[in-house]
Amino acid sequence: MQIRVVAARPWEVSADLLIVPVVGDPVFADELGELDRRCGGELAALESFGELRTKAYNAALGAPGELPVRRLLAVSGGKADEFDREVARRLAASALRRLVGRRVGAAAVWLAPIATGLGGDEALAAELVARGIVEGGFEPKTIYREDSDAAPPQLDELVLIGAPGSDQAALAAGANRGQIIGEGANIARRLANRAANDVTPIVLAEEARAIAEAHGLAIDVIDERRAAEMGMGMFLAVGKGSDNPPRMIVMRSGEDGVHDSLGRRLALIGKGVCFDSGGISIKPADRMEEMKMDKTGACTVIAAIATVSRLAPGLPLLAVAPAVENMPGGHATRPGDVVRALNGTMVDIINTDAEGRLILGDAMTYAEQLGATHLVDVATLTGAVSRAFGNQVTGGFASDDGWWGQVAAAGERAGERYWRIPLVPDYAPDMDSWYGDVTNSGSAEGSLVKSGMFLDRFHTVPWAHLDIGGTGYYRKALPFAARGAGGVTHATLVELALAGRD
Ligand code: BES
Ligand code: MN
Ligand code: ZN
Repeated sequence: MQIRVVAARPWEVSADLLIVPVVGDPVFADELGELDRRCGGELAALESFGELRTKAYNAALGAPGELPVRRLLAVSGGKADEFDREVARRLAASALRRLVGRRVGAAAVWLAPIATGLGGDEALAAELVARGIVEGGFEPKTIYREDSDAAPPQLDELVLIGAPGSDQAALAAGANRGQIIGEGANIARRLANRAANDVTPIVLAEEARAIAEAHGLAIDVIDERRAAEMGMGMFLAVGKGSDNPPRMIVMRSGEDGVHDSLGRRLALIGKGVCFDSGGISIKPADRMEEMKMDKTGACTVIAAIATVSRLAPGLPLLAVAPAVENMPGGHATRPGDVVRALNGTMVDIINTDAEGRLILGDAMTYAEQLGATHLVDVATLTGAVSRAFGNQVTGGFASDDGWWGQVAAAGERAGERYWRIPLVPDYAPDMDSWYGDVTNSGSAEGSLVKSGMFLDRFHTVPWAHLDIGGTGYYRKALPFAARGAGGVTHATLVELALAGRD
């Protein structure tokens, strides 16, 4: 998709389609009034018919009157006081998703209502619209079959209409950034949505290698033999039950020992459970098929380091993605097995379904061995986070306020929502083990807190943990996203890394 930026009135741009964002109750005065007049009152007619209600992401097609386009698409951005970066991006995505099955070559988006809603920042509006259009184009129905009628149109051209006299270079830069971030999110989503009989740990590592080669990133894939030599006992314990062997995927940009402008060598760590059956502590059948998505964190960090390399080549950054399949089998870890973690902790695995924390703990230690000064991990770690926060807020933990502040600020810039959960040392005794230093799970009370408490043992540098167990994938399609992985945290990780650019 080509993106073209113009500084013009919304009625001056020729295209197949003109997208008209409506934030808050439409007032048909000024430019919106003139636009309505030129489309023969169609916008006002849609409004009076109830099509432009301030229900976010409502999208209505209309006749263009004398406008130089074939169709109008009015899309609601909801209430004006609830409008933010996330809504801006989702509005654009909803517009594209409203067009499923249509052929649209060139679409134009009038930026002014979005820029106004974002406090007047037109370049930011261009970025979020471009990102939203790209993300809205993602459709997992096309992964395993040609089904173009089920997918939103692949635009040839996106025209972003800035106000007359606006800084077109700034708009173009914003749009380019948004397109790159959206494409990265879609890489993560596509990988995450692929089935477990397709994407095994070895295949995930091959995909990561291809991405690394395409982006000039270094990559090291540690197999089970090397992992054993290194002492990654928790990581290996999870992979043992499957005939598909585990792989620790390590991607790197920037020379060894070099830090970014904030003095960091940041490591992004992603949970890569290609299928989580629960292992011997096997899960119930209901919705077990969702557990092919348990690799979403890994897919996200693999995509994020590639995205960062497009926006800031050579920026020091690590991505560590432990990839395993958690299966019951003759060689599987049993409840009660005691293993030695890479950092020396003796871990009593009392529940083989609490596997994410095991592979992440060793990945965190390994990232530190590689020189990481700051850690952030992304994981579909618990069902509890989904029960607590649902699919719109990612719960997180951090070892200190300063580091959480930086992660949360990156989330703000990315337009993604987070809520910090406390680590409660009083709960630690519930995870005491008779035979080791700690068990990998405790009683159900406070189990979300305890998942963070377990990981907290495996770092010595600032660490943050983002649990996407609720937000990582949608169980049904939403106006702005297909069913399946939504790409959450990708943009936050990219913003967090880019903060260390000079
Ligand atoms: N991958 C699951 C968590 C999950 C479940 C994410 C459903 C998204 C949807 C994780 O490995 C798991 O099984 N967690 C257990 C932990 C428990 C055994 C301490 C859980 O949440 O029940
Ligand atoms: Mn599990
Ligand atoms: Zn899991």
